Amino acid sequence: MAKQITPTLFLILFILLSRTVFSDEFVYNGFNGVEASNLTVNGIAQILKSGALKLTNETSRVVGHAFYKNPIKFKNSQSGKVSSFSTAFAFGIVPEYAKLGGHGFAFTISRTKEMKGALPSQYLGLLSSSNIGNFSNHVFAVEFDTVQDFEFGDISDNHVGIDVNDLKSNASVNASYFSEGSFSKQKLFLQSGKTIQAWIDYDSSRNVLNVTLSLSSTKPAFSILSFPLDLSLVFEEFMYVGFSASTGLLASSHYIFGWSFKMNGKAQSLDLDSLPALPKPKKDQTVLIVATTISAVVFLVFGLVLALYVIWKIKNIDVIEPWELEIGPHRFSYKELKKATRGFRDKELLGFGGFGRVYKGTLPKTNTVVAVKRIHHEAKQGLQEFVSEIATIGRLRHRNLVQLLGWCRRRGDLLLVYDFMPNGSLDKYIYDEPRFTLTWDQRFKVIKGVASGLLYLHEEWEQTVIHRDIKAGNVLLDSDMNGRLGDFGLAKLYEHGANPSTTRVVGTLGYLAPELTKIGKPTPSSDVFAFGALLLEVACGRRPVEAKALPEELILVDWVWDKWKEGAILEVVDSRLNGEYDEMEAIMVLKLGLMCSNNTPSKRPSTRLVVRYLEGEVTLPETLAAPDEYDGKKGGTSGMELEDLIDSYPSSSYFEKVSTWSSAYDGEGDIDIEANSVTPLTDSGREDNR
Ligand SMILES: *[C@@H]1O[C@H](CO)[C@@H](O)[C@H](O)[C@H]1NC(C)=O
Ligand SMILES: *[C@@H]1O[C@H](CO)[C@@H](O)[C@H](O)[C@H]1NC(C)=O
Ligand SMILES: *[C@@H]1O[C@H](CO)[C@@H](O)[C@H](O)[C@H]1NC(C)=O
Ligand SMILES: *[C@@H]1O[C@H](CO)[C@@H](O)[C@H](O)[C@H]1NC(C)=O
Ligand SMILES: *[C@@H]1O[C@H](CO)[C@@H](O)[C@H](O)[C@H]1NC(C)=O
Ligand SMILES: *[C@@H]1O[C@H](CO)[C@@H](O)[C@H](O)[C@H]1NC(C)=O
Ligand SMILES: *[C@@H]1O[C@H](CO)[C@@H](O)[C@H](O)[C@H]1NC(C)=O
Repeated sequence: MAKQITPTLFLILFILLSRTVFSDEFVYNGFNGVEASNLTVNGIAQILKSGALKLTNETSRVVGHAFYKNPIKFKNSQSGKVSSFSTAFAFGIVPEYAKLGGHGFAFTISRTKEMKGALPSQYLGLLSSSNIGNFSNHVFAVEFDTVQDFEFGDISDNHVGIDVNDLKSNASVNASYFSEGSFSKQKLFLQSGKTIQAWIDYDSSRNVLNVTLSLSSTKPAFSILSFPLDLSLVFEEFMYVGFSASTGLLASSHYIFGWSFKMNGKAQSLDLDSLPALPKPKKDQTVLIVATTISAVVFLVFGLVLALYVIWKIKNIDVIEPWELEIGPHRFSYKELKKATRGFRDKELLGFGGFGRVYKGTLPKTNTVVAVKRIHHEAKQGLQEFVSEIATIGRLRHRNLVQLLGWCRRRGDLLLVYDFMPNGSLDKYIYDEPRFTLTWDQRFKVIKGVASGLLYLHEEWEQTVIHRDIKAGNVLLDSDMNGRLGDFGLAKLYEHGANPSTTRVVGTLGYLAPELTKIGKPTPSSDVFAFGALLLEVACGRRPVEAKALPEELILVDWVWDKWKEGAILEVVDSRLNGEYDEMEAIMVLKLGLMCSNNTPSKRPSTRLVVRYLEGEVTLPETLAAPDEYDGKKGGTSGMELEDLIDSYPSSSYFEKVSTWSSAYDGEGDIDIEANSVTPLTDSGREDNR
């Protein structure tokens, strides 16, 4: 029934609306006003105010269609002969990114205006994967394709093709044109954004389809594509003419600015000047400017990040000098130590030593807890020499030495990595108001341990190592409360770094052997002197020089000597022990302390002898030489060193000096006595305290 009704219906329509419906010619010089009503658009297509028909914008994967509203009779229903037709249209393709857009558009003659199910991207809104190549599609198209789809055998990303029910073009050619009066093809870039005029002419008598392109209003003499084609198999009697466009991942705006069509004759060429203009390449420029701006910003940001990275690298990784590599296995990377100490943050600070700050850290690789000492050192030559010594020192192994695990140099900073000592330094347990008072046994064990470590440094290792800075603050306690000497050999660093024009004596007041201020050369004996001071302070529970003490108790060694002479030596023993100590051991320690504190190096016992006394292998002599005998002269005991200093700076006050030093001592624990920087004091003060 329907098949019978349809032709009848068309007949009626033909009679009623022949002039308009079957109009075999139309010319659109833009699509403004009333003319727009003769156009059916769907998908994303729209008619702009300017009169341009915009098939797609730059949205990805969209389809846009525009068809002449009414069907056109292409075929004589009786003869089945397809009429000749001709069309001309002006188009412009503006890609999303310069020269990168997609997918294209096609002049389309189709059975329907809707083209339901047609896909975007390479399908150009014409067909779908399910109907592609099917003869029942009745789709004819001339594609202007800007993406090369290998699936459809596209020859390039800038071609014109003839499609019959398929997107595999039956004929295609790179977009080109013949300029006026020229016989040679010129390349034409479809996505140039320029207005291009295309002519499609079908000669049904010869079954030839020609495609011609131009950048001008005049039709060139030669077409770029001439293909023999019988459309009678493709067309139905009535067909719709129009355009289809699509975008894919790459997108373009596809515009049609004017369109003329004529059955059985030549379509009127369009006067490009009278057509709506391509929306000023503003869009293109905007894209370009935006793209340029974005790339500029990205480039800048990238450059900045790169610069920051390089700066960071330079800051963090110092140039490793060849000598450092020779020193070898003990070298840590700065990065590793920075990570271990969480960037040397204050929270990880264990304390300030005479040479620098000490941080707690955990080595990332082994999870070993370590102490990292950071020493600032200005003079580089000294540093190299010192570091090689450090490497040597790193080979020292003794249970009463704090093991040096490695080192790292970063510019003027030297980082030394030591075993971490959980119980801190000895001074925390003996001075002032200690949180925890060591018992006599613990003290004695610490003393013996330190003596044993010192003997190893002086005599038992392959070369003599002088500690130079023995003091309670440099005795560290391990988890079993064993005493371990730390910082051995470190004092040398300061000597290396010292300005040769100043003689700088390094050490700590009260531990400094008097001869050091004269000769300046440390010896095992000067270490023994310092160890003597340590023995006295551990037994007495106070500093070698105590500013807060009564004047007669000011200098510990003098006070102990006085008590020894009085026969009341046990009065000096730390009252915090509440009398709970081995008297014989205490007397032995005090006597040994006095012996070691002798101002004359030759009168001090050797390190080996010190150990033997402490171990009880040898008994101490009954009588002691006064510690203040120095080169046969009598003088202030430990004040001897001060006197030497004072002598070089005639107007000085002994007491005032001590106070100054004491306050410095309270603050930092260490004093570097710089011979030429002692503050001149008054003579009267000196008299008062003599
Ligand atoms: C559009 O249709 C109207 C009538 O519907 C007609 O007057 C006008 O000429 C048509 N324009 C074109 C370009 O076909
Ligand atoms: C494209 O057109 C659609 C419909 O007109 C609109 O919703 C969308 O925002 C447009 N996209 C762009 C990128 O202009
Ligand atoms: C072609 O399309 C018609 C109608 O949609 C369908 O019946 C036919 O099976 C299709 N042929 C092929 C080969 O897909
Ligand atoms: C067009 O090409 C298809 C194959 O892609 C072919 O089947 C068809 O016959 C061709 N049509 C013409 C008119 O050459
Ligand atoms: C089309 O142009 C591409 C480059 O744009 C070229 O590689 C190809 O050979 C050309 N094809 C023809 C048929 O001229
Ligand atoms: C098609 O092009 C051929 C060769 O360029 C030419 O001979 C023929 O006249 C053209 N036909 C039409 C309808 O333009
Ligand atoms: C010493 O360290 C060990 C292990 O860390 C701990 O158990 C002990 O309490 C510490 N002793 C003191 C006196 O802090």
